[in-house]
Amino acid sequence: MSDKWRVGVLGLGHAGLPTAVGLAELGWPVIGTDCDVAKVEAINQGRSPFFEPELSELLRKHTATRRFQATAEVREAVRHSDILFICVGTPHKANGSADMSQVEGAAREIARNLNGYKLIVEKSTSPVPTARWIDRAIRRSNGSHDFEVACNPEFLREGTAVHDFLHPDRVVIGAESERARGQLKELYRNLDCPILITDLNTAEMIKHSANAFLAMKISFTNMVADLCEATGADIRDVAAGIGLDPRISPDFLQAGVGYGGFCLPKDVRAFIRVAEQYGVNFSLLKEVERINECRIDRFIQKVQQALWVLRDKPIAVWGLAFKPHTDDIRLAPSLKIVQRLLQEGSDLRLYDPRAMDTFRREFPDGNGHLHFCASAEEAARGAHAILVLTDWPEFREVDWNRLRETMDVPVVIDGRNCLEPASLNGAGFEYYGMGRLLRPQKG
Ligand code: UDX
Repeated sequence: MSDKWRVGVLGLGHAGLPTAVGLAELGWPVIGTDCDVAKVEAINQGRSPFFEPELSELLRKHTATRRFQATAEVREAVRHSDILFICVGTPHKANGSADMSQVEGAAREIARNLNGYKLIVEKSTSPVPTARWIDRAIRRSNGSHDFEVACNPEFLREGTAVHDFLHPDRVVIGAESERARGQLKELYRNLDCPILITDLNTAEMIKHSANAFLAMKISFTNMVADLCEATGADIRDVAAGIGLDPRISPDFLQAGVGYGGFCLPKDVRAFIRVAEQYGVNFSLLKEVERINECRIDRFIQKVQQALWVLRDKPIAVWGLAFKPHTDDIRLAPSLKIVQRLLQEGSDLRLYDPRAMDTFRREFPDGNGHLHFCASAEEAARGAHAILVLTDWPEFREVDWNRLRETMDVPVVIDGRNCLEPASLNGAGFEYYGMGRLLRPQKG
C-alpha cells in the first residue's frame, strides 16, 4: 500500500502494540516506542510482552517484513513519523481521577523533536479536554513547527484486540481541520465500518461514555441477578429475554463477580471525577461503581454459605485473569477474592490457563496457603469447592463425573454463570451461581 506517511506509536502496551501492528497490517510503515528497553527488545524479536490472541503472529509477520519496528528512543520515533499516536497509560490516582503525567510527558517529548508538520493523535482513554491540553503543552515547548492534535479513541477489548482493530464496529475521528480528518480517514481507508467525525471534546466524551455505559449494563444486570436470587428467578433467562430487544442487545448482560480489568473500573472513576470538575453530579455512575465493589462481598458470602467454615479448607480457584483470553489480572476480581480467602485461612489451589505467571508475581508467597496448579483438574483434587472466577471456555469442557471422584466435597460456586447447573447436579455436584436458584435443584 502507501508509504505516503510513516506512523509512530508512543506506548506499546495492551492498546499501543495491537494498534501498531494493526496499522502495519493495514499497510503503513510503523515505528513504535516504549521506555521499557526489555520490552522493546522482545518486540523486535517478534515476541509479545503479554498474551493476546493473534498478536504474536502479526508481530512476527511485521517485524520480519520490517513494516513494524520498535525503539526505546522516543526521539527516533517522533522524528521519523508523520502521524503520531499517543497510546501511553492513563492510570488512576488515589482520588480516582486519571493520572495524565505520561500523556503530558509524551506531548513534551513530541514537542522537543518536532522536525516538520505532524498529526498527533490521542488514542489513550483520556478525560475531556485532554486533546486541548496536549495542544497547549506542545505549543509551550515548541515554537517553530506546525502540528495538529486529533482524538481517535480506541475501542479494543483485551482478548480480541487484534480482531477488534481490524474489524471495528466504528472509527471515531475527533479533529478540527479538514487536513487532519482527511489523513485519518485515509489511514483507515481499508477498514469496513462507519466513520464518525466529531470535534475533539466530543470524541473524548464518546470513549468515556461508552465504557461507563458498558459498566452500567453490568452493574444493572448484577442487581437484577440479586433480585432473581431472592425471588427464585434465573438471571440467565432474564438476560436472554431482555437482550432480544434490539434496544437493549444481548451483550454485557452477564451477571457475576463484577467487572475488572484496566479500563472499565478506572474509566468509570475518572468519568465521575470529570463530571464533578464541571459541577455535574453523576450519581448514577457512583452507584454503578458501588454495586461492582459489593460483588466481592456477595461472592465471599456465597462461599461461606456453601462451605460454612473456611479455615484450612482446600478450595480450588479456577480463573484468575479479569476475563478469558488474556493473562491480564489488573483489577481482576480474583485479586480481592483470593486476598479475602487467605485472610479467612483457606488453602487455595489456583489455576488459570494463561495468568499463572502474572498472578504469581502479585502473590509471591501466600504464606504456604497458595498452590499454583498445572490444570483445572489438579486444582480440584481433594478440594471442598471449586470457585469459578473467569469464564474460560475450557472450564465448560470438564468431565464432571470424573472430577467428582477426585474431590473431597463436590461443590461448585460459579462466579461467572458459565456452567450448566443441570449437568453439574447430574454429576452429583452442588451448584451455586450468581442470580440463579440458591439451592441446587435435583432432577
Ligand atoms: C473494555 C471495553 O469493552 C473496550 O471497548 C475498551 O476499549 C477497553 O475496556 P476490556 O477491558 O478488554 O474492554 O474488557 P471487557 O470485555 O469490556 O470486560 C470488562 C470486564 O467486565 C471483565 O472483567 C468482564 O469479565 C466483565 N463483564 C463483561 C461482565 O462481568 N459481564 C458482562 O456481561 C461483560
